[in-house]
Amino acid sequence: MPGVVVIGTQWGDEGKGKVIDLLADDMHMVVRFQGGNNAGHTIVYEGTTIRLHLVPSGILYPHITPVIGSGVIVNPAVLLEEMDRLSALGIDVERLRISFNSHLIMPYHVLLDGLLEERRGGKKLGTTLRGIGPTYADKAARQGLRMQDMLDPSYFRNKVKEAVEEKNRLIEGVYGAEPLDPEAVAEEYVEYARRLRPHLEDTSSLVRKALDRGKNVLFEGAQGFMLDLDNGTYPYVTSSNTVAGAVCAGAGVGPRDIGEIIGVTKAYVTRVGGGPFPTEQDNEIGWAMQEVGREYGTTTGRKRRCGWLDVVALRYAVRANTLTSLALTKLDVLSQFETVRVCVAYRHRGRTYEDFPVLLEVLQECEPVYQDLPGWRKDISEARRWEDLPPEARSYLDFVQKAAGIPIRLVSVGPERRQTILLDGDDTRLLQGKLLYYDDLP
Ligand code: GDP
Ligand code: IMO
Ligand code: MG
Repeated sequence: MPGVVVIGTQWGDEGKGKVIDLLADDMHMVVRFQGGNNAGHTIVYEGTTIRLHLVPSGILYPHITPVIGSGVIVNPAVLLEEMDRLSALGIDVERLRISFNSHLIMPYHVLLDGLLEERRGGKKLGTTLRGIGPTYADKAARQGLRMQDMLDPSYFRNKVKEAVEEKNRLIEGVYGAEPLDPEAVAEEYVEYARRLRPHLEDTSSLVRKALDRGKNVLFEGAQGFMLDLDNGTYPYVTSSNTVAGAVCAGAGVGPRDIGEIIGVTKAYVTRVGGGPFPTEQDNEIGWAMQEVGREYGTTTGRKRRCGWLDVVALRYAVRANTLTSLALTKLDVLSQFETVRVCVAYRHRGRTYEDFPVLLEVLQECEPVYQDLPGWRKDISEARRWEDLPPEARSYLDFVQKAAGIPIRLVSVGPERRQTILLDGDDTRLLQGKLLYYDDLP
């Protein structure tokens, strides 16, 4: 069976952790392929909440091999802390495999992320301040440090010292900030290297072998499609490619290794940090979504901006990722509303956009066109089958899958594993591949 990809279709925090944890039961391997500890994936298992930043979300199952692919950037301090935390919960982390080619997030990357944000003044991107941009910049400039540099301790020690000395010139000279101590950083990183070395591997080859043996492999996306460096709302994006196609580069597999591509979509939209957000509700509706949906960042604790579901953006995600199905999460959060709105087009200077506009100016200035649907106003958190849902909730789901042009195969009605409705072809009126546009919508 070719690999299954799970990505977020919005600006992150769609509930990927929950969905991946659920699907991982049938998998053998879960592979992260991009991003770093800017990600925060939450799993709630039998009442215990587990937040993962770097370790793949399949880790809770003993039969899973969790893999960190070459496209992921790793802060070793964060990874080791996470591994220790999982170990303390009785979870075996010895299984974790890490690519020789993954780049290291260094203390100067974290420092520079903060200094760059400060310099942006009122035009802050609102990054997670985890060093993501500077680390990927060094990777592209071919001056990054990789996991394989850690193999020889004395070589690594020197390399770290040299890198810190080089960056100190920028930190002091350009930003006038306090330099880092090269000896201390080298000391710290040599110790991390000692602990991580047993986990390093040629992960591209490892994943290949699993696929060739017919094992089920799941590729775990971080962030969301709208934060993609090339396809998202640049510069208000992250510094990696979050699009499904990035699986190939970041896990070392080929396009033919990908079968199903599941897009995780929240029943409304959230965004942390700056940037355009056409359906944002900076009002009582948005605050109610935030309150009931507990929309506070897993990584930074920041309040998430909230707004109505946007199928213009969703259709863009369907198209650019060739999504095969959707996993719709947090439907329970919409139960509070009399009327549920869905954005079906944007208007800008007399023009209607059904296709996502790539010009930032249009995105910043456009007005959403909404379709209003009746709310259900019933607690659905105990629903386990399609039939358990109120008719209005079913109509809402039907509307979303028609507008998206692909079926919804999973509906989440709460953070726990069991709070899930799995749909198959018999439960829903699936579309026959036709993409419906605004004018065709009921
Ligand atoms: P991720 O980054 O995409 O993995 O998402 P996060 O973990 O950052 O944020 C999603 C939050 O919503 C987490 O706190 C989850 O426990 C929670 N969650 C996931 N699915 C549901 C759901 O269907 N209903 C509710 N109420 N919460 C959910
Ligand atoms: P998960 O995997 C939500 C956002 C930041 C900021 C922008 C750039 O949990 O869905 P960065 O630190 O990456 O340079 O920040 O991207 N961002 C996320 N927002 N969920 C995430 O991950 C995010 N990772 C980055 O808030 O706007
Ligand atoms: Mg998150």
